[in-house]
Amino acid sequence: MRADFIAAELQSVKDAGLYRQLRLVDGDQGPTLMLDGREVINFSSNNYLGIANHPALAAAAKAAIDRYGCGSGASRLISGNMTLHEELEAKLAEFKNTEAALVFNSGFQANVGIISTLACEGDAILSDSLNHASIIDGCRLSKAQTFVYAHGDLAALETCLKQAAPARRRLIVTETIFSMDGDQAPLAEIVELAEKYDAMVMVDEAHGTGVFGANGAGVVAKLGLAPRVLIQMGTLGKALGGFGAYVAGSRSLRDLLINRCRSFIFTTSLPPAVMAMALAAIDLVQNEPQRRETLRHNCQKLKLGLSRLGFELGKSESPILPLIVGDAARCMAMSAALLDRGVFAQGIRPPTVPVGTSRLRITVMATHSDAQIDRALNVFEEIKRQWPPTTTS
Ligand SMILES: Cc1ncc(COP(=O)(O)O)c(C=O)c1O
Repeated sequence: MRADFIAAELQSVKDAGLYRQLRLVDGDQGPTLMLDGREVINFSSNNYLGIANHPALAAAAKAAIDRYGCGSGASRLISGNMTLHEELEAKLAEFKNTEAALVFNSGFQANVGIISTLACEGDAILSDSLNHASIIDGCRLSKAQTFVYAHGDLAALETCLKQAAPARRRLIVTETIFSMDGDQAPLAEIVELAEKYDAMVMVDEAHGTGVFGANGAGVVAKLGLAPRVLIQMGTLGKALGGFGAYVAGSRSLRDLLINRCRSFIFTTSLPPAVMAMALAAIDLVQNEPQRRETLRHNCQKLKLGLSRLGFELGKSESPILPLIVGDAARCMAMSAALLDRGVFAQGIRPPTVPVGTSRLRITVMATHSDAQIDRALNVFEEIKRQWPPTTTS
């Protein structure tokens, strides 16, 4: 009986054309990948600065294992709070220009836990319509009334803030760089509105950290908004090349999360090697701004080449270039055709993106060579003959 139910559910996913399968990577996460047994150029990674396989991260991880062992053995509040956790948190706070920081085991856990700690029944959350699944789940778990405002639409946000006036507290949540569109939230204006309507601001810098700001601290730093953004969440597994996540803010925010945040409290803490990698990564991000320069050069080159071919990439201001295809089947067929020719650009379908906006999510790395980008553009030119850009692409 149970097996029947599972098979039927799976069939409905297949019938909707939304069946997903895992691909296998053998080797490290570079600008090329050994994917399902063959080498392809990798345009599907969040390893924007190309440091996931950097020797400095590997050396730091190995040294941490030698000194502290492999596992942390327990949650932070039992016996799993190790010196490296606190060292990383101090470094993150300095990096983000905040009083304090707290590490989480993943960005997903951070968003779900932080939002459901800071908002509950009687409160209001104002959430951008394109926010990540982990933010959506955090809103659901909180039981606060959630107002979803149209993507990046300040007038819509203001209307929601007015409607949320009777709520006990208001929390605006937005990504700074949107994960599937690569565009930037109008953060300065959002902060203004928050101050006008007495709301807190929480940002998700998963795709901003490492890439933006003079020292790579993210979009909040780039805009000089750190003192006015109460909660800065980000991840360690994307541009920082490792794993895990953090929140940066006030000391009292950190203390409250340590006391109330269930996804922080009830989980084994991250192992020492992961902390050490993040410490090494922050050093690289801060001390090697040339990586961001090369990344920007690579983004411009690919963007320009694709637009010359007639493809539109929306309003992306980041290494995430969404080539909107529309139809999910067409999008996956294009992705497969690119892959056949050695270019890996993942097709993204609902429910990750809204229906009718399936896209190739093309991500650029600082370690792509000009030759690899030229090769990719040639391949896009080839597949364009079979799938000419439509009005939406
Ligand atoms: C915007 C955003 N927030 C949060 C997450 C979750 O982070 P993690 O992969 O560390 O769980 C992701 C991606 O995975 C993301 O794109």
